[in-house]
Amino acid sequence: MREPRETDFGYRQVPLEDKQALVDDVFHSVARRYDLMNDLMSAGLHRAWKDVLVTAVNPPSGERPFALLDLAGGTGDIALRVAAAGGSGTRVTVLDVNREMLAVGRERAIEQERDNAVTFVEGNAEDLPFPDRSFDAVTIAFGIRNVPRIERALAETYRVLRIGGHFNCLEFSSVDVPGLAALYDLYSFNVIPMLGRVVAGDAEAYRYLVESIRRFPKPKVFADMMRAAGFRRVSFQLLTGGVVALHSGWRL
Ligand SMILES: C[S@@+](CC[C@H](N)C(=O)[O-])C[C@H]1O[C@@H](n2cnc3c(N)ncnc32)[C@H](O)[C@@H]1O
Repeated sequence: MREPRETDFGYRQVPLEDKQALVDDVFHSVARRYDLMNDLMSAGLHRAWKDVLVTAVNPPSGERPFALLDLAGGTGDIALRVAAAGGSGTRVTVLDVNREMLAVGRERAIEQERDNAVTFVEGNAEDLPFPDRSFDAVTIAFGIRNVPRIERALAETYRVLRIGGHFNCLEFSSVDVPGLAALYDLYSFNVIPMLGRVVAGDAEAYRYLVESIRRFPKPKVFADMMRAAGFRRVSFQLLTGGVVALHSGWRL
């Protein structure tokens, strides 16, 4: 099948091969302020959404070995939460394409004395540098919409999961409740770029983030993409009126 030649970079049409470079610029410019921005933009709600994800991952509390791969793991937020929730056998590999985000993550892991449990790997979710069936679980939080070829990332995720392994994907979704939708639009297109300008010094980067959310497939469509990649028992739950969706699927 011919590769699509253009993709949506937010609402702008950009050649598919340029999208990754543009995404890299966004996260390069915001890496140091990324965690603060998450708190400000979501009024702390991202913590609750991430808690739901960690509960779904359900790492074992004892010594039983458990290997999680956190894709587009950035500054290690999910990895550190899973490492804290799991027992001494829990190991998390954070993969991200952006060196600056990983550097912040490494520092956080050392500060929290979890650098023995969390490993940081520079790489692309579309082409994972890991053997087949090497992880018990895979997560990706607020990352899949940034990946230019989502189908490839899903195929790679499936490949590296062991049989019986669980994939969880947390991503912004679409708010369909009428009053809430209008409020959400107002907030997203005005407040978030303003926060981006004032706090991270980059309104454009945050305008892109908002636009990319609107372009991401609706939950049912994304669930079908997961099924097409081979996942079974695919389901999703909407959080905060549909602002976010947690997708789940298994390799059986
Ligand atoms: C919004 S951040 C999410 C970070 C983290 N998962 C969290 O929830 O805090 C998106 C991350 O996706 C990464 N990313 C974008 N394209 C990627 C790709 N093709 N492969 C791996 N990571 C990618 C970016 O570098 C960035 O760190």
